Amino acid sequence: MWKKPVLVLVGVFITGVVVLVAVLLLRTYTLPENKVAWQDKGAPRIVLGEKEREELLKALKAAIRIPTVSFSETEQNTTALAEFDEFIHRAFPEIFKSILVTYESVGKYSHLFHVQGSNNSLQPYMLLAHLDVVPAPAEGWDVPPFSGEEKDGYIYGRGTIDDKNCVIGILQALEFHLKRKFQPLRSFYIGIGHDEEIGGRHGAMKIAEKLEAKGVKLAFLLDEGLAVLDGVIQGTSRPIALIGITEKGGIDLNLTVNSSPGHSSMPPRESSIGILSAALSRLEQNPMPSKFGKGPERSMFEQLAREFSFPLNVMMANLWLFAPVISRILEQTPSSNAIVRTTTALTIVNAGIKSNVIPPTARATVNFRIHPAQTADEVMNIVKNTIMDDRVNLSNESFDPLPISPYDEENFGYQTLKRTISDVFSVEPVVPGVCIGNTDSRHFGNLTASIYKFSPVVMKPGDLSRFHGLNERISKEGFESVVQFYYRLIQNSDSDKVPRHRHVSEEL
Ligand SMILES: *[C@@H]1O[C@H](CO)[C@@H](O)[C@H](O)[C@H]1NC(C)=O
Ligand SMILES: *[C@@H]1O[C@H](CO)[C@@H](O)[C@H](O)[C@H]1NC(C)=O
Ligand SMILES: *[C@@H]1O[C@H](CO)[C@@H](O)[C@H](O)[C@H]1NC(C)=O
Ligand SMILES: *[C@@H]1O[C@H](CO)[C@@H](O)[C@H](O)[C@H]1NC(C)=O
Ligand SMILES: *[C@@H]1O[C@H](CO)[C@@H](O)[C@H](O)[C@H]1NC(C)=O
Ligand SMILES: *[C@@H]1O[C@H](CO)[C@@H](O)[C@H](O)[C@H]1NC(C)=O
Ligand SMILES: [Zn+2]
Repeated sequence: MWKKPVLVLVGVFITGVVVLVAVLLLRTYTLPENKVAWQDKGAPRIVLGEKEREELLKALKAAIRIPTVSFSETEQNTTALAEFDEFIHRAFPEIFKSILVTYESVGKYSHLFHVQGSNNSLQPYMLLAHLDVVPAPAEGWDVPPFSGEEKDGYIYGRGTIDDKNCVIGILQALEFHLKRKFQPLRSFYIGIGHDEEIGGRHGAMKIAEKLEAKGVKLAFLLDEGLAVLDGVIQGTSRPIALIGITEKGGIDLNLTVNSSPGHSSMPPRESSIGILSAALSRLEQNPMPSKFGKGPERSMFEQLAREFSFPLNVMMANLWLFAPVISRILEQTPSSNAIVRTTTALTIVNAGIKSNVIPPTARATVNFRIHPAQTADEVMNIVKNTIMDDRVNLSNESFDPLPISPYDEENFGYQTLKRTISDVFSVEPVVPGVCIGNTDSRHFGNLTASIYKFSPVVMKPGDLSRFHGLNERISKEGFESVVQFYYRLIQNSDSDKVPRHRHVSEEL
């Protein structure tokens, strides 16, 4: 026979479990449905003529053929940059002759457009894209990377998804609007940078400075970034759109070890190479702590919970309890590990010149990408405590993660983007996310707090590796959607009201 106190304990335990399960299920099944209906009709699809559909593909292919490559921090193909300038003047005649549009070139090869709206009390917004690309050696490509060739319904080439699709998409949408005599109420800017791949210091940064000097404030800004993911997130069955609301920060850390040089026949007990290697190994063996659930990825997972089946939906809706477990699962793959923590990548090592000489100096560079819930200073403190060796000299360049842009129901920019994405791509849900790469938009923090990163393309499994990789491509319909997207975004932004929606379940 059990004694009474034990029975009481068992009773308490069972009650506890029942309450816990009830809380978990309640949180899971009272999440708002992702299905939303907008209160008023948004911009309709643009009806394109056969000739216009050919024109837009032709424009993209011509843009791909100009090899606007950023080779290194200091080296770009300036011939190609100049050629691109001539090309957009030729390809978009309406833009350059419209009395509504003011154009100036910035930093020699970047472009800034202002489209005059009729109501100056509406705050302008801005669309951003970049025309430079990373190098693309031809080996491994199915078609030459700067040929703009078509194959099986896709246009191949460097820049087809990063980011000439957006450059041409934005300009083509404006060209079509102007041809149809569109006159906006709300003014807007278009910025096309020429050095995003190497930091944007001469392009986007100069554009931002110019606008800042004029005292411009923006309602919102949209740059490249996340996308519609179809089958990319494991466990989801329908496409999901992610709007980047922040991006990770970064640190380039240089490690240097000096020791006295000598002959390899009488080596010291510890060499500069040995000391440096030990430090590097400690950094790699001790990843930065998981910050999963402490940044905006928390909203992303909670808003996505309904897309997953049991038990993942319950776990994701209850991160207060399950964050550590989900974090463990995400850590298994490099791409999802990047969401969980500040990443550590050993990227450069340098030491030694001759097999019989002990080198006096060994150097290395480590690249960190900082989680939104951490700062560069916090990461550097952990680094120092991990290396714990004064013989390793550290120097660093860093920037903190971007502030988190608002994504509430009252935010004009976010809701306008959300409705345009769900209209153009017929996709639900549309949720906030974190960009793990960096974009030109980080230079615009003084112009607006509402900075969003979204590229209007659908990514399928395998497509992510085409970014900066082999066989970068976009389907012909995919590119037409890019133009549709910007065309309708311009129309949807031309309003003084925040788009309202109600969750479909509330209609009953
Ligand atoms: C630079 O661009 C021009 C075209 O504008 C091209 O002819 C040339 O081959 C490019 N140079 C390099 C090194 O890629
Ligand atoms: C560390 O590097 C900096 C910059 O190269 C240099 O000024 C400093 O003297 C070095 N310190 C040590 C202890 O080597
Ligand atoms: C990292 O760089 C910052 C700014 O340059 C500097 O204040 C800090 O001391 C550096 N940290 C280390 C560990 O070198
Ligand atoms: C790190 O080293 C690289 C290459 O030696 C150098 O270009 C860079 O300026 C250094 N950065 C810092 C922060 O010391
Ligand atoms: C914003 O302005 C401050 C002060 O003028 C400047 O130091 C900072 O770099 C600017 N921020 C950005 C993101 O450009
Ligand atoms: C301009 O926009 C403001 C703010 O929405 C509005 O109050 C005003 O009536 C508009 N003016 C005209 C002429 O439409
Ligand atoms: Zn890009």
